[in-house]
Amino acid sequence: QGGSKRRRGAFIVFEGLDRCGKTTQVQRLTEGWTGAGGVKGRRFPDRTTPLGTTINAYLTSQQEMDDHAIHLLFSANRWELQRVDNGGKVDDSTGMGDPSRILRGAEAIERDLTNGISVIADRYAFSGIAFSAAKGLNRSWLAAPDANLPAPDLIIFLHLPGEAAAARADFGGERYETVDIQTRVRDEFANVREKVQGYDGRSGEWVDVDAQGSIEEVEERIKRVVDPLLKRMEGEGLGEIKR
Ligand code: TMP
Repeated sequence: QGGSKRRRGAFIVFEGLDRCGKTTQVQRLTEGWTGAGGVKGRRFPDRTTPLGTTINAYLTSQQEMDDHAIHLLFSANRWELQRVDNGGKVDDSTGMGDPSRILRGAEAIERDLTNGISVIADRYAFSGIAFSAAKGLNRSWLAAPDANLPAPDLIIFLHLPGEAAAARADFGGERYETVDIQTRVRDEFANVREKVQGYDGRSGEWVDVDAQGSIEEVEERIKRVVDPLLKRMEGEGLGEIKR
């Protein structure tokens, strides 16, 4: 190390409507990562945790739940205890102790970032607000449970115009996968975007990326947004999501 300050990892969040190609792009960016320090992919909801099991039952309509309660569960899923997995692409070479130690979800992300590992998340708190707001819940109430989570450096919103989204509407049948709901969610994402841009600048930069075209074309657009961020990252502190 030679006393040199370790560069922290970048925290990048992908958001968008269902079927916008988000998961494919997160995977490609993670697998083709060229930034220093390695990278870890995360996905919210994380259906592998105890709360994730309940969330999955709700999304697959095996279980009904009050709209407020499920909103809080989605948020709690970002906060809940997580085993720090060591089986992914990135090795726990950080010397932080027992790799099977159980951390809070937020703590696990922070730990990776502090150790120079970048984190790419497939959805995060912004989906939480957009989907619940689309059901008519009060927007300022919605934001509260996610306050103080680690804030991303960059939010990439994969944008599909109405017709293109409809053409991809071969939905898999989960609870929110209808054209009607997705249309409302799209409007709510626009509200969330405005709010993010009104923050103090430490809560991430929101960039709309055109999700039309081939996988490679979209990947190229994403690279053009991510590369400058990685250059800018030196010496950056980590912010928190504001209410
Ligand atoms: P997925 O298809 O990316 O696994 O997401 C599952 C669904 O859950 C998707 O329709 C978006 C929705 N969702 C919420 O309603 N609130 C949240 O906080 C998150 C992360 C996802």
